[in-house]
Amino acid sequence: MRYLISILLVLLLVVIGFYAWANRYSEIAAIKPIAPSAFDKTTINKGASLVAIGDCAFCHTKPGGKSFAGGRKLDTPFGAIFSTNITPETSTGIGTWSLLAFTRALRKGVDRSGSYLYPAFPYDHFTKIKDDDIAAIYAYLMTRPPVTAPRSENALSFPFNVRTLVSGWNLLFLRAGAYTPDPSRDDQWNRGAYLVQGLGHCGACHTPRNIFGAERRSSARYAGETLEGWHAPALNAASPAAVPWTANAIVNFLLDGWDGDHGVAAGAMTAVVDSLGTLSEDDANAIATYVLSFQDQSQAAERTKAAKSFAQKVAFGPSPSAQTTPDTAEGRGEATFVRICANCHRAGARSAPLALSSTVSGPDPHNLIRIIDKGIQPPQNALDRSMPAFGGGLSNRELADLVTFVRSHFSKKPSWSNVADLVAEMRPSRQ
Ligand code: HEC
Ligand code: HEC
Ligand code: HEC
Repeated sequence: MRYLISILLVLLLVVIGFYAWANRYSEIAAIKPIAPSAFDKTTINKGASLVAIGDCAFCHTKPGGKSFAGGRKLDTPFGAIFSTNITPETSTGIGTWSLLAFTRALRKGVDRSGSYLYPAFPYDHFTKIKDDDIAAIYAYLMTRPPVTAPRSENALSFPFNVRTLVSGWNLLFLRAGAYTPDPSRDDQWNRGAYLVQGLGHCGACHTPRNIFGAERRSSARYAGETLEGWHAPALNAASPAAVPWTANAIVNFLLDGWDGDHGVAAGAMTAVVDSLGTLSEDDANAIATYVLSFQDQSQAAERTKAAKSFAQKVAFGPSPSAQTTPDTAEGRGEATFVRICANCHRAGARSAPLALSSTVSGPDPHNLIRIIDKGIQPPQNALDRSMPAFGGGLSNRELADLVTFVRSHFSKKPSWSNVADLVAEMRPSRQ
């Protein structure tokens, strides 16, 4: 009995302690609206390019809505979370936030009132942003037109709707604090690491997450992840790219949204590329240097040659015809390919060879299914690389057969096992 009482007492103390600790953030006083003229032009311009790298406008603007007024729905495994109004409006936006309050939100994930923010807002990355960059982002946002737009209710079930619990998540997974350069690396690498780990939050999509929705560390970093129906391929040594990435190819992909040896940026990467459009070449090169530093560069020339000769070998001729059409998934898929795809994807066509696309050689069929179903709406800088949607004219079985064929014909990787189920899951209203 004595033991039981002691254990209960200890538990009670732990609960009280956690509660007190979790509620340690207090409100930061509201400020009077700052006149836009209080910020200097250079800082505002610097802020504009940083905001672009951070993709703030994409997440904080709902489709068709006013810039930065929030309301975009983000689907997480725990329910839907809506972004908030970050225009300098005083009642529904951040017009009363001091630089101190703004910095605390980016570094610690806590809002001006002291409430925890959900990590759907990637503050676990933004924490790495330097003070002067945060000040520039603040200057840019505080000089945007104020918009009245109240918060949309999140659709999170218990216990995820209890914001205080985020403090536990932070304790386990948030390493708060600005980026500290690695002295064993040069400036370019460190600049790339700063942008990728921090503002660019590339790992938010490209790093696998654990059951708490936190990014895994060490070797799993940048190992690829599927989110909101798109697979972000591995950017580390597990990259599925048939032709190993080079610095030039990464710069092309990020700035132009397309590279001849890799194809076009699609899906969730489109918005990233659109906001990176203003990235300086120096910063693009820095990102490339950092990303390449954990890719497998061994025998790159040989692998490139082999991949290109394979691509040539499997390409369909200028007047494509199905060679064999036995009644198998692959045979039926090939017939469909010849009928509706080969015209644009034959040898000599302007598009990047399918055999070089990570969409075809990656470990996950989500992207290929979606691209055939919904087409490609490419980034602004690669507008001529759009592909029509074919979903309307294909049954689920025809689509699955086509995906099976494309995978087995245009890559040397093992076939995907769950294609038919996944197609049915992704197109529930179709047969
Ligand atoms: C991946 C989407 C995403 C990106 C990118 C993003 N945010 Fe957010 N942000 C959110 C969501 C979602 C919330 C609301 C979180 C919540 O309700 O707990 C939020 C909340 C905030 C808040 C708190 C506002 C308030 O009223 O409580 C600030 C400040 C903020 N974001 C600033 C930024 C800035 C600056 C950037 C760019 C550097 C940015 N965000 C990029 C999704 C995003
Ligand atoms: C009207 C022309 C056209 C047709 C028809 C067409 N595509 Fe495409 N497709 C494109 C273009 C343009 C691109 C982007 C080209 C590039 O990356 O260079 C593309 C890209 C792709 C990619 C690579 C996507 C990526 O993320 O890199 C795949 C896979 C693909 N198409 C599959 C198909 C399949 C399967 C069909 C038949 C259902 C098809 N396409 C029909 C024009 C077409
Ligand atoms: C919102 C999610 C998201 C973010 C953030 C994101 N990516 Fe991506 N990325 C994707 C998706 C999805 C794809 C695959 C789509 C496609 O076919 O282009 C992709 C593709 C890529 C590819 C092509 C990989 C290959 O093998 O074809 C590269 C390189 C890349 N991303 C780099 C980056 C870098 C660098 C950043 C940070 C500046 C970044 N991404 C941020 C979602 C994201």
